[in-house]
Amino acid sequence: MQFHVLTLFPDALAGPLEQSILGRARQRGLISVELTDIRRFTHDNHGTADDYQFGGGSGMVMKPEPIFEAVESILERYPGEERRKVPVVLTSPQGEPFSQSVADELSEASAVVLVCGHYAGVDHRVIQGVITREISIGDYVLSGGEPAALVIIDAVARCIEGVVGSHENVLEDSITSGLLQHPLFTRPAEYRGMTVPDVLRSGNHAEIDRWRREQSLRLTLRRRPDLLEEASLTGADRRFLRTLGWTSPGPPAADRPGQGE
Ligand code: ADE
Repeated sequence: MQFHVLTLFPDALAGPLEQSILGRARQRGLISVELTDIRRFTHDNHGTADDYQFGGGSGMVMKPEPIFEAVESILERYPGEERRKVPVVLTSPQGEPFSQSVADELSEASAVVLVCGHYAGVDHRVIQGVITREISIGDYVLSGGEPAALVIIDAVARCIEGVVGSHENVLEDSITSGLLQHPLFTRPAEYRGMTVPDVLRSGNHAEIDRWRREQSLRLTLRRRPDLLEEASLTGADRRFLRTLGWTSPGPPAADRPGQGE
């Protein structure tokens, strides 16, 4: 999968993209990330990429010409049909919320262009003319879109088979499974008076699975009860949740297609 990142600050991305899972995925050719400096496409000797807002107001606006031309310089490498399938994403607090399902969807594309917004934002004609999708990574304002692009690349890359050691891990991931992850423990079995729950050392895999599932359900109910509305819950899950005071918003599991025990 090919990521093209258009940014005014390529150096802000280069380091993190060399590390850990993303670095290894690049070395192994599972993903490739090309950083393009938008300033290369500016039209004056000063590399001016922003300008004052029409209508007044504080904050500069990214000019349309360099972004249009930078995006076109990437897209022209993809022949006709293929070009229309390349998502051109703008990172912006005004975008649709990023989620695991958006990451899954983007991972189906063979290439993704990510345009990193800056300053107050980009000229609206960029959004009208070349952007196919605006994505926000959360309800807060970053000083630039680069961290958001990294978040998107990381989450999308994880969906690609081979990027994470065991693809089973990815399918079991918190959120992918619809629930928050249960607590994890490693050695030592006792640390500063805190011990690992006995069940995890019992060797009884059925009991371990049950404990983990119940911990996930408990944590999800406490922190993200909204996720329970979409999660695939068994009858046993529902009974356990009810003991914790959960009141199911939907019909009982038995009445839902494919949701029984
Ligand atoms: N740029 C600034 N804030 C952002 C956010 N929350 N998500 C994506 N891009 C951004």
